[in-house]
Amino acid sequence: MKIDGKAYRTIWLAPDDWSVEIIDQTRLPHELVIVPLKSAEDAARAILTMQVRGAPLIGATAAYGLAMAIREDASDDAIDKQIEFLAKQRPTAINLRWALEEMRRAVQNLPREERAAAAYKRAAEICDEDVETCRMIGVNGLKIIEEIAAKKAPGEPVEVLTHCNAGWLACVDWGTATSPIYQAHDKGIPVHVWVDETRPRNQGASLTAFELGRHGVPHTIVVDNAGGHLMQHGKVDMVIVGTDRVAANGDVANKIGTYLKALAAQDNGIPFYVALPHSTVDWTLDEGMEIPIEERSGDEVLKMPGRLPDGSVVTVEIAAPGSPAGNPAFDVTPARLVTGFITERGVCPATREGLLSLYPERR
Ligand code: MRU
Repeated sequence: MKIDGKAYRTIWLAPDDWSVEIIDQTRLPHELVIVPLKSAEDAARAILTMQVRGAPLIGATAAYGLAMAIREDASDDAIDKQIEFLAKQRPTAINLRWALEEMRRAVQNLPREERAAAAYKRAAEICDEDVETCRMIGVNGLKIIEEIAAKKAPGEPVEVLTHCNAGWLACVDWGTATSPIYQAHDKGIPVHVWVDETRPRNQGASLTAFELGRHGVPHTIVVDNAGGHLMQHGKVDMVIVGTDRVAANGDVANKIGTYLKALAAQDNGIPFYVALPHSTVDWTLDEGMEIPIEERSGDEVLKMPGRLPDGSVVTVEIAAPGSPAGNPAFDVTPARLVTGFITERGVCPATREGLLSLYPERR
């Protein structure tokens, strides 16, 4: 997608053809800073500190991190160690482990001297496949938006609520939850997005609002607690969120607060869709309660970064000094609250059978 007229992906191979560059998401929306990653350690740090974040993008970053490591040491031992090192940086999003296992498969049966080239090739494919997958999620989700638009008065926008950032910044391009929105907007269907700010790290206010704004999609940032009120007053037609891991029964892990949106949506009879690529389904887990939930530093709750009128970016304390804070980063929305999954292969019910109907090879 474009920032100020220039097309970007979130990660790309640098001109040296072996290191990569990323958009530092900890600096958005205040500054657009491009950061080089030159080793697996750099990639791991970028994932841990959330310079890159969002399930598909941390997978893509880890894939290039592993390629850079294999360039240094292509032995089986080193590859095993680097995969475990990269995978442990963030525990909830399964795409991270998925991408690393894809990379392992791409190199494991090759002679050592051929492994680096094969690793770079697979990492590039993972990125390209993610772009096409997200584009197709948009194509399939667009139909749902069109159906809602057809029931509205001409010119009246389809009101979509989203949580966190499942936009192009969370993927390589397009996004998952945002892809249908961008495609509807580009087709001339009026859309307005309610953007949950998404405390504590404000991915909605900082990132989703940034990317929607740069693409010209009308949107309004609301505090996380506003969703229920908006739904009660008929101001939301549908909810679309992304996900970090879907269990085989259709339970959905996503950014903390997603569950409450799903409860409010059900109480108000509003469709609640989850957009995801195939790499987000964890077929090894029977239900969502088995998904490991990342617990992050309480500092993210107690402190807040922001920009002062003089342009400087500072972090301030916002809580009672000395009070401890808990910071679970994700929650699990039971499948029964999900209207449907929007995937690259089509839309299906949020059930085991629904998923299997789109991915029959998993039977
Ligand atoms: O902690 P984050 O910012 O990595 O969390 C991201 C989300 O919760 C997204 O909704 C999810 O990764 C889907 S991204 C297409």
